[in-house]
Amino acid sequence: VTPREILALIGRPRTGQSRSERALADTLTVQDFHRRARRRLPTPIADYLDGGADAERSLHENRRAFRDYDLVPRVLQDVSETSTSTTLFGVEHAAPLGLAPTGYTRLLSPAGEIGVATAAARRRVPYAISTVSTTTLEDVARASGTPPWFQLYLLKDRGVTRDMVARAAASGCPVLEIAVDTAVSGNRLRDRRNGLTIPPRLDASTLAQIGVKPAYWAGMLAGPSLEFANVAASQHAGAGISGGSIAAITSQFDPTVGWDDIAGIRDLWPGTLLLKGPIGAEDALTAKSLGVDGVHLSNHGGRQLDGAIAPIRLVPEVRAAAGDDFGILVDSGVRTGSDIAMALCLGADAAFIGRPYLWALVASGGRGVERVIDILTDELRRTMQLLGASSVADLRRDGHDLVRTRTT
Ligand SMILES: Cc1cc2nc3c(=O)[nH]c(=O)nc-3n(C[C@H](O)[C@H](O)[C@H](O)COP(=O)(O)O)c2cc1C
Repeated sequence: VTPREILALIGRPRTGQSRSERALADTLTVQDFHRRARRRLPTPIADYLDGGADAERSLHENRRAFRDYDLVPRVLQDVSETSTSTTLFGVEHAAPLGLAPTGYTRLLSPAGEIGVATAAARRRVPYAISTVSTTTLEDVARASGTPPWFQLYLLKDRGVTRDMVARAAASGCPVLEIAVDTAVSGNRLRDRRNGLTIPPRLDASTLAQIGVKPAYWAGMLAGPSLEFANVAASQHAGAGISGGSIAAITSQFDPTVGWDDIAGIRDLWPGTLLLKGPIGAEDALTAKSLGVDGVHLSNHGGRQLDGAIAPIRLVPEVRAAAGDDFGILVDSGVRTGSDIAMALCLGADAAFIGRPYLWALVASGGRGVERVIDILTDELRRTMQLLGASSVADLRRDGHDLVRTRTT
C-alpha cells in the first residue's frame, strides 16, 4: 500500500493549520477546555480557579441542580429559522449568555481582561469586569471598543467606591452590578492549603513549579506586573489599600453594607443597576422597590457561602415574585447550551458563565473565549430546535411546558 493510498483511505491531514488552531478546532465542549486549562496551569493556580469555599458543597450542588430538571420537547414545530438573539436591558445580544465578573484574570492568562472583553464584543455578548480586575475598566473599554458592564464591591473606603462608580459612568458602562454576597471573604481551603498568595511569591516551591509548567510562567513573567488596577486607579491618598495583595483587598470588604447603601448607589448611577448574589424572592422585591432593575442570581460559583442554594433553583420563585418587568440573570454551574435553555424555561432572561470562559482563556487566549461562546451558542441553538422553540421569546413564553422538575 502506498502512502497516497493510505491518505485516500483516511482523508487528507489538515494542512495549513497551526498546532494551536488544531487544538482549538478539536475543543468541542466546555469540559475539553477545562482539561486543557488544567494541563497548562500550576496546581495552586488551577485550584484557585476551580475551587470553592469550605467543603465545596455549593460548588457540587451547582452542577447537580441542573439534573433535577428534564426537558419536555414540543415536537413537529418548524424550527428551520431558529435565532438565539435576545435583548437585555435595551441592548441586543447574539445569545442569552454573558461572561460573569472574575477577579485577577491576568494571574490566569496574559491575555487578561482585554482578551475576554474583546472576544465578548466580537461575539456580541455582555462581559462584566470586576472591581478587582488586573486591568482598568477604561483600558478594557478602549481596547475592546465596547464599554463592559461593571461589577462593584462596596469597599470600606466609600471614596474609592464612589470614584469607581463615576469612572464606570464616564466610560459608558451600561450596567452596574453590585455583588452582595461578600460581607466577608469565603473560606477557600484549597488556596490556604496550597499557600497561594496573590500575587504569587517567587519562593522555592514556585521556582520548582516553573520547571513543571514553563509555558505558564514564561507568559506570566513576560507580562506587566500584576496589580488590582481598578482599585489602584481610584485610590485616594491615605486610602489604606496597599499594594496588589489579595489580603489587602479582602480586608476592604465591608460587613456593614446594608440596603441604604444600595439606595445611595441608585441615586448615583444613571444606568441599569443589578444586585449579584444568592438572592431570594423577598430580597428581590426589596431591591425592586428601591429602583434596582434586576438580579444576577449567583452563589459566586460556590466560592462564598458554602451550602448556599444553587441559584438555578431560585429562578422560578424570584420570577413569580418580581414579575416580568424585572431582569433575572443566573450563573453558577452553567456548562452547556441545554443548561442555558433550562434557565430560560425556568424564567431567567440570560445565563452567565465564570470558570468556562476562564478555562478557554487559559487554553487558547481570546480566541478560546470566542470559541467557548460559539460552542455554547451552537449547543443552545440545537437544544432549542430539538425542543421545538424557534426564539428566546418562545423559551420564555412556553418554558413552563418545556421543563419539568424531577420528582424522584
Ligand atoms: C476565579 C474566579 C474569580 C471570581 N471573581 C469574582 C469577582 O471578582 N467578583 C464577582 O462578583 N464574582 C467573582 N466570581 C464569581 C463569578 O462572577 C461567577 O458568579 C461564577 O464564576 C459563576 O460560576 P461558574 O464559575 O460555575 O460559572 C469569580 C469566580 C471565579 C471562578
